[in-house]
Amino acid sequence: MIAIANDHSALEMKKEIMSLLDEMGLEYKDFGAYSSESCNYPVFGARAARAVASGECEFGILLCGTGLGIGLAANKIKGIRCVTCSDPLSAELGRRHNNANMLSMGARIIGPELAKCIARAFLTAQFEGGRHALRVEMLSALERGEEIE
Ligand code: RB5
Repeated sequence: MIAIANDHSALEMKKEIMSLLDEMGLEYKDFGAYSSESCNYPVFGARAARAVASGECEFGILLCGTGLGIGLAANKIKGIRCVTCSDPLSAELGRRHNNANMLSMGARIIGPELAKCIARAFLTAQFEGGRHALRVEMLSALERGEEIE
């Protein structure tokens, strides 16, 4: 299950991403926003992020004007590693190296075709583990307030 959320600036892009998920045969849960009325991205980013952090959803895709605010909101939730991407390679490496569990993108930054390409790259890449697992564990240690070296 993929969590998806957006603010008012990215309603149309969400529809594009949902059609990609349909095409890929992936189920998703839409955490809003459901209209283009002005709203606050942290509310929707956090709702989707909590669903990923709890295990209800495996991954999440977040959309706002820049992808930045909603991604920052998601990264405030423990267990979330959200990468904001405007290119497919960053999204792929975010999965392969950083074990990112959420992707955010900006509807005012990139077009719908590129957004779909980035989402596909994110959703089809696998975490490589190995030396990257230690580094991702270090991120978790930072989140717990521990010192790392
Ligand atoms: C909303 O106007 C805009 O600030 C928001 O979509 C996003 O770009 C914030 O990071």
